[in-house]
Amino acid sequence: MRAVSGDSIPIAATIAKARAGGQRQSALVARRDGSYRFRPAARTIAMPPLDPTALAAKTPVIPVLTIERVADAVPLARALVAGGLPVIEVTLRTPAAIDAVRAIAGAVPDCVVGVGTVTKAADIAAAVDAGAKFLVSPGTPPALATALAQAPVPVLPGCATVSEAMALAERGFAVLKFFPAEPSGGIAWKAVAAPLPNLKFCPTGGIVAQNAASYLALPNVVSVGGSWPAPKDLIAAGDFDRITALARAAASLGGRRTDDGRRT
Ligand code: 3PG
Repeated sequence: MRAVSGDSIPIAATIAKARAGGQRQSALVARRDGSYRFRPAARTIAMPPLDPTALAAKTPVIPVLTIERVADAVPLARALVAGGLPVIEVTLRTPAAIDAVRAIAGAVPDCVVGVGTVTKAADIAAAVDAGAKFLVSPGTPPALATALAQAPVPVLPGCATVSEAMALAERGFAVLKFFPAEPSGGIAWKAVAAPLPNLKFCPTGGIVAQNAASYLALPNVVSVGGSWPAPKDLIAAGDFDRITALARAAASLGGRRTDDGRRT
């Protein structure tokens, strides 16, 4: 697929046209002339709801995954779903990441697979093309915020300060990744709920089994992200049973959010 860096306007126009027409979409692909179209597919998927609050509320914990081998992707996703964590984030930190997302999206229908470590516009097209159901960025400089605002799937843009959170709120983002959570103040982020009551957060970075519940108890936290349910060493060892056990423990944290924001 062609690189699309710095060329988000044709993508935005294509997505806007599809949304306006209520079009069902599959992959977003580049034409030779630099414009974009949705590739017709035998089995198209419905346009996902643009509601990151509902997405984040589906689970108390979003596993943040670093996948080195594509062959690990499907058993890993199945192990996490079996443990009760159906929403997973595959980070763009390895050459295998995009193929891993494509494999999961094709083989594990009850898994909501998203793409994390999105740092540039080209990542958005590649992720959506592979079947990503949501996108996550570690931080969100203005050009990336513009591109993410046009994405056809829910987005959790990253922020680490109140000013960054406010800038993202101005662009209409409602649920933000707070990253890196522990070095950036940890559960003291609760204080942001008073001046910014309409913003919700998914803190990640330094969150582990021992402190996750404290974050989940905060009124402005919908879910947390972290690598602890599927650490790299267990993935490398192919110890998917242990990953299911860690996922089960993580899934039991904090209950689930109801539509009005309560945890059950
Ligand atoms: C992320 O991108 O969210 C982090 O790398 C996850 O952080 P952790 O490894 O400290 O959980």
